[in-house]
Order: sequence, then C-alpha cells, then structure tokens
Amino acid sequence: MKQNYLQDLFSLSGKAALVTGGGRGIGQVIARELARAGADIAIFSRSGAAETVNLIESEGGKAIDIIADVTDEASVKAGIDKIVETYGKLDIVINNAGVCYHKDAFEASVAEWRECLDINLTGEYIVCREGARVMIEKGTQGSMINIASISGHIVNIPQRQAAYNASKAGVIHMTKSLAIEWADKGIRVNAVSPGYVATPMSIDPDFVEPELLAAWDPLFPLHRMAKPEELCGAIIWLCSESAGYTTGADIIIDGAYGVI
Ligand SMILES: NC(=O)c1ccc[n+]([C@@H]2O[C@H](COP(=O)([O-])OP(=O)(O)OC[C@H]3O[C@@H](n4cnc5c(N)ncnc54)[C@H](O)[C@@H]3O)[C@@H](O)[C@H]2O)c1
Repeated sequence: MKQNYLQDLFSLSGKAALVTGGGRGIGQVIARELARAGADIAIFSRSGAAETVNLIESEGGKAIDIIADVTDEASVKAGIDKIVETYGKLDIVINNAGVCYHKDAFEASVAEWRECLDINLTGEYIVCREGARVMIEKGTQGSMINIASISGHIVNIPQRQAAYNASKAGVIHMTKSLAIEWADKGIRVNAVSPGYVATPMSIDPDFVEPELLAAWDPLFPLHRMAKPEELCGAIIWLCSESAGYTTGADIIIDGAYGVI
C-alpha cells in the first residue's frame, strides 16, 4: 500500500487560495480546512478577519487578511494584486461571501433586491473574473468554487426570499457558463450548493426568529442542519488536482433536503 496516498491525492500544498467572506461562518471553516490541506490562505472581508488568520497561524499555516468588498471592482482588483504580491500567484478561489434576507416580494424594496443580487451574484462574477485574469496571465491551472445554495434549486419554505433564491440560481448557471468559457485556459469552475448549515446566517436569533427555526426543524431529513466542516471534503477535492476532469459541476450537499 502506498504511504500518504490520500494525502497526495487531495494535497493543496504550495497552492494559494482566496476565500471571500472568510471572517466567520462557512468561509472561516473553509479557510481553516484548506490551510490544513496545505494551502496558503488570503481572506477577503469587509471588516477584517483576524480571528480566522490567528486560527490558521496557530496551527502553523499561512494566512493574510485583506479588506475587500466583493461588489467593488477596484477593491477586488487591489485585493488580488496583494495576493499575487504575497504568494506570487493565485490557484484557488472560493467565492463564499453572501447575504440573505427574509421578506416577501412586496415587503422587500428594490434596493434590497439589488443589494442581494449585487453581493451574491455580481460579487461572485467580479471575483471570478479578476481571479481568472491573474490565473490566465500566469498560466495557472486554477480551480474556482462558487458557493451557491440548495435555494438555487428549490424554493425554501415558509420564509419568503425571492432575491436570495434568484441570486443562487444565477450563481449555478454563471458557474457552468464560466466553466465553458475558461475550459481551454485550464481553469475549472464548479459550484457547491449547501442545504441549511449551522452558521450565524441560519441560527443567529438576530437574523432568524425562533418560530422559523421551529418550522424548519421537521423539514430536515437528517433531523439537523449541516456543520460547515461537512462541506469541506468536497471542496478540498474540487480544489485538488484529483478533480482535474471536474468542471461546470454543482455539488449538492443538503442532507437530502431538496429531494422531497
Ligand atoms: N448558512 C446556510 O445555511 C447556507 C446555506 C446555503 C448556502 N449558504 C451560503 O454560504 C455562504 C456563507 O454563508 P454563511 O452561512 O457562512 O453566512 P455568514 O453570514 O455567517 O457569512 C457571510 C460572510 O460574507 C461576508 N460578506 C457579506 N457581504 C460581503 C461583501 N460585499 N464583501 C465581502 N464579504 C462580504 C460577511 O461579512 C460574512 O463574513 C453564503 O454565500 C451563503 O449564501 C449558506
């Protein structure tokens, strides 16, 4: 039996990875897990991600904290320049930053609709585009993973969240489109669509009322939300060279929520 077989298969050693929205929640866990798999990490956040950087450094990994708003083209470009200045290249992009609000179509303002689409869809587009620009310039065989959602496939109940659902459906089709556009450049573009994951977005009482949590509970086939760690095996695989023939895919990790 070959020693370190699995380690070699999924190793991200020597890769530079960007995780957007990595200051907390799913992004923080992805950043830590990619570092554990060997990658050097850069976090984009609007207000700093010192906790994530400390977590990674305390385990012997490398991480830098960059203030960048994914909706702002200039700040994304400057952030990616900083990654290249620090690590010499960019191999992996995890487009994770996102927002959600629960309002019906009349209650929500057009400004709120636009903000949700701007962060969740246009933001991922800007980061993909600027990431791919650098990968192409440097001839990097890169991997991009766009965090979509089961909400891009089904309509969640009982809350109303048309803007979020539309933004995530857009992420899934944008991912397929960019996978085709950049296939001959050696850049793979995939999506991961989680079901409910226990993070501030889905359990924080400032965001989710207790009645809503109680209404969701019987809808989970596995009787619980996912832990962010349960997304990371698939993400590490998609980032690694062992997923070299996987592009334009959307991996659903929802504990069968979308099946029924
Ligand atoms: N939690 C869930 O149940 C769930 C399910 C499916 C998909 N997702 C998706 O996973 C991703 C992460 O969600 P989470 O649950 O960790 O949420 P979260 O609210 O805990 O974290 C989102 C992060 O994105 C950052 N962010 C928001 N707008 C930004 C911007 N313009 N520029 C830079 N950063 C910005 C936030 O500051 C925050 O750190 C999101 O795309 C979300 O839609 C979450």
